[in-house]
Amino acid sequence: MKFFIDTAEIQEIKSLSNLGLVDGVTTNPSLIYKSGKDFKTVIKEISNIIDGPISAEVTSTVSNEMITQGIELAKIANNIVVKVPLTKDGLLACKELSEKNIKVNVTLCFSAAQALLAGKLGATYISPFIGRLDDIGTTGLNLIKEIVNIYTIFKDDIKTEVLAASIRSPLQVSQVALMGANVATIPPKIIMQMMKHPLTDSGLEIFMEDWKKTGQKF
Ligand code: E4P
Repeated sequence: MKFFIDTAEIQEIKSLSNLGLVDGVTTNPSLIYKSGKDFKTVIKEISNIIDGPISAEVTSTVSNEMITQGIELAKIANNIVVKVPLTKDGLLACKELSEKNIKVNVTLCFSAAQALLAGKLGATYISPFIGRLDDIGTTGLNLIKEIVNIYTIFKDDIKTEVLAASIRSPLQVSQVALMGANVATIPPKIIMQMMKHPLTDSGLEIFMEDWKKTGQKF
């Protein structure tokens, strides 16, 4: 399973990339706002660090503007993936950009029916948002299962990868992995939490104490 990190913070990207844990990066307008940086500059900076796919989202809701923006974003680096929303205009932009061999990540997906449309129109990735579904009292993980199943049934026609997004916990990462999501885009904080377990910490403490008691030097 591929790990993308969901951030526009350069330092976080650098540090996790050094650990070898970053297969790609996803951003969105809210993450760009949070970074306080110029959109295209920060995308360029990320592309200087990461070789894998970098999602950069269009900032219009109108298809022809999305297409123009997508073409411009794709010129920033050869690993840019253009992110478009799952709307009628977004789907049209997905179709046009995909036909131009520009990779597209269709975002803000909240139903399997929506995912089916993106798959039919040649999206490179579909981004179902599980955390935001949980926020409104539904089970986001079910959506991943449904989409993976549908894309598997139609694997000869649909080549779109399932990119589990809006992840809020380490448990959700292992659950989307079990369900067969191709990619999880994970906030850096959650990747750090994935490394931690209290039994690892207490076990290590005992090993270190017992090693000292042996009186040996390595
Ligand atoms: C995905 O590409 C989105 O940027 C992201 O996962 C959204 O997560 P949120 O619901 O925590 O904002």
